[in-house]
Amino acid sequence: MFKHASPAGLNTRCVHAGTQRDPLVGAVNTPIHASSSFLHPNENVSQVCYPRYMNIPVQQAVADKMAALESVGLEEDAAAQVRAMPLSTGMAAVSAPLLGLAKAGDHVVLQADLYGGTHWLTLNELPRRGVDFTLVASSDPEAIAAACTPRTRVVYVESPTNPLLKIVDLAAVAAVAKACGAVSAIDNTFATPINQTPLTLGFDVVIHSGTKYLGGHSDLSCGVAVASGEIFDAMFHWAVGVGCTLGMHDCALLERSLKTLALRMERHNDNGMAVAEFLAQHPRVERVHHPGLSTHPGHDIASRQMRGFGAMLSFEPRLTPAEVRAMLARLKVVTPAISLGGVESLVTLPAETSHNKMTPEARQAAGIHDTLIRLSVGIEDAEDIMADLDQALSI
Ligand SMILES: Cc1ncc(COP(=O)(O)O)c(C=O)c1O
Repeated sequence: MFKHASPAGLNTRCVHAGTQRDPLVGAVNTPIHASSSFLHPNENVSQVCYPRYMNIPVQQAVADKMAALESVGLEEDAAAQVRAMPLSTGMAAVSAPLLGLAKAGDHVVLQADLYGGTHWLTLNELPRRGVDFTLVASSDPEAIAAACTPRTRVVYVESPTNPLLKIVDLAAVAAVAKACGAVSAIDNTFATPINQTPLTLGFDVVIHSGTKYLGGHSDLSCGVAVASGEIFDAMFHWAVGVGCTLGMHDCALLERSLKTLALRMERHNDNGMAVAEFLAQHPRVERVHHPGLSTHPGHDIASRQMRGFGAMLSFEPRLTPAEVRAMLARLKVVTPAISLGGVESLVTLPAETSHNKMTPEARQAAGIHDTLIRLSVGIEDAEDIMADLDQALSI
């Protein structure tokens, strides 16, 4: 069987890691066991099998594939310790380090520039559990270090961020967390393990909204959390305890999607770069946020820590709010819709969708203006995406 500590490349890991062949009929793909009840006692299996415990073959297969992908570049011994868990949503994965690790009396340090749902969870769920937190306005490692206290249990960041694509120096932040005895956790949704493997930069926990690129076809809601040792165990017991495990049919869909993740990301990266450059020179566009542009403030750090710049970007059009609405209505290839990371290009207004739970003041402070447009560049022909944006922007 494929071992995730083996030196195989990303495409090989996507296709083969974790697959559990069926000895009964020789199915090449991992079987889906459509059962919530498993024989017990069972002389062939020592553990108690149950979907919520994440120990059914298709759940293990997807966990092993994600562990293999996130451990690319680690030394063999460290890679062998990495484990992953398939969860019901991205928010379950966000919660794993925040609610699964921090306990009453602990303190958590987070970047202020977070996905809106994570921002909401922090403001509402941490205080209810007696966990203090500090939201750090800047993503500079020094500012994060200044917010850490001896009680800090978790340092939590996103990079690139949603929706402004800010870049955090991950090696520096991991070192800051380590120095204060805290666990470092990152939401790696925008980058995916194809473009960025934070464990190799010193991070302890990597989480994903698998609803985005991992699923990749806008037909699946799921999350993944990755870590090693006691940190993994603590998050795992929390997830099994609260019951936010991913069901078996969805695990099968996720396993299938992950087989083409590297292939899809290659096209996403190319298209993301082409569309960012196109928009950056468009007369109706004031500013484009994409880490691949040399004008982006995080470009140098992104070039160091990412294998590709991804296909998420946001831009500030030279349009009034009413003109922005008219522009969205004129799009024919790009679809105005929430979510991101699918094969199809999607646009949204973060102020009205992903970040609508933040107060207008908090949004303004974070630089998320009402006319900011976020674009998830799909894998269509780049020329068609650009032509569509061009005709919609021309008023
Ligand atoms: C960066 C990021 N993290 C987490 C989430 C939450 O994921 P889900 O909607 O799958 O719960 C989202 C959702 O948009 C996201 O964009």
